[in-house]
Amino acid sequence: MEEEKFTKVEDALSKKQVGKEVNLRGWVYRHRVTKDVVFVLLRDSSGIIQCTFKKGDVPEDVYDKAEQLKIESSVKIKGVVREDKRAPGGFEIEGKDLEIVHLAERFPIGRDLSEEFLLDVRHLWIRSQKMINVLKIRSKVFESIHEYFRNKGFYLTHSPILTPGSAESGPDLFEVKFFDRKVYLTQTWQLYAETILPALEKIYTITPAFRAEKSRTIRHLAEYWTAEAEAAWYNLDDCIGLSEGLISYVCQKVGRECKKELKTLGRDPDYLMSIKAPFPKITYTEALKILEKDGMKVRWGKDLRTNEERQLMTHYDKPLVVSHYPKDIMAFYKPRDPNNPKVALCYDILSPEIGIEIVGGSERDLNIEEMKKALKKAGEDPKKYEFYFDTRRYGAVPHSGFGLGIERLIMWICKLDHIRDAIPFPRTFRRCNP
Ligand code: 4AD
Ligand code: MG
Repeated sequence: MEEEKFTKVEDALSKKQVGKEVNLRGWVYRHRVTKDVVFVLLRDSSGIIQCTFKKGDVPEDVYDKAEQLKIESSVKIKGVVREDKRAPGGFEIEGKDLEIVHLAERFPIGRDLSEEFLLDVRHLWIRSQKMINVLKIRSKVFESIHEYFRNKGFYLTHSPILTPGSAESGPDLFEVKFFDRKVYLTQTWQLYAETILPALEKIYTITPAFRAEKSRTIRHLAEYWTAEAEAAWYNLDDCIGLSEGLISYVCQKVGRECKKELKTLGRDPDYLMSIKAPFPKITYTEALKILEKDGMKVRWGKDLRTNEERQLMTHYDKPLVVSHYPKDIMAFYKPRDPNNPKVALCYDILSPEIGIEIVGGSERDLNIEEMKKALKKAGEDPKKYEFYFDTRRYGAVPHSGFGLGIERLIMWICKLDHIRDAIPFPRTFRRCNP
């Protein structure tokens, strides 16, 4: 294989390689020409290394090629590894030969560009060190989620993206023309997942989800990825345990296996490894008491807003489980708590630091009439949910499930200021390009 002839930059940056000749390939990250030395910082997916080409030491044509390079040109470089304390990373390549695979045009990204411009050229900004580090961590997060559920005996399964109706709430739906009909992009897999339970009992998915939220916030995407799980026979506590376990598993694995990337982003890997279930738990009613002491009075029955969640999280340095929200403001499928009919058997998990909701979950109502009432109150037509009610007609069992917003989790893990950098190509209220 051609690949075997090439050393990864990360592997060249090592004492073991000193004095050895290596072949590298990648892209020009920086380029500087002095009187008789050309410095090329070479980047590949594994790292960055300095390569030097000295006039007189290399054939003239090699020196000329090194001199005319432009940022982001693709190249192959042959050279000898030297230890050099002045070089970034402590090692450098004494260049011997150079092949220009493609000489780039002038790269449009330089220093100090506006956030808007960087979003316009997202297809090029994706090569930045920040995005490379986030994307590597994102890959590890997905890997960890699959591993966690697989280890627990959950089946991976899928629900449709095109759906006839709403599962969460009406106004956030994206309409799509489906031949001569109107259908909607999925907001959650949940209703379909519940119908699959009698077949597989414990299931999960990782899927895109869509919300037509016209909000410009740091935590909303119109298209985001979610990890969702649904389990037969699980009650609220089982479900909370499953989602806490997932968050700790991801934090542990990313903390252990992405140390370099985390540090570059300003996140201490040890902090992530200190995130272990069980998390602290309070009820909605207890949350209101904490907020009141902080001078933020919320009327019982109103949902927590962003600034209230953020204030609440100033008291915690780990994720927090908030449970038993008022039944009347919850989605139709969240059941009444038999011990306190004013609240539902549901919970959210809030992240520390940024203080946003990363998980939402609940037990599922088994009472068709209660659900019909709640749907009507929310302005929905219960007739559209007949397929869903069938799960309650033919062998209903207690069950629970949750959804985790993967970009929100990545945003917290990577200490990002905005959710858009947790995904390669963000779709938000104002942007659907490139
Ligand atoms: O809380 P939500 O709306 O819950 C549901 O959709 C349930 N049906 C999930 C389930 O029980 N299977 O959404 C779940 C999570 C939220 O906690 C949040 O992390 C994320 O999805 N989320 C978003 N992430 C980014 N941008 C948005 N616009 C999001 N909306 C929800
Ligand atoms: Mg929610």
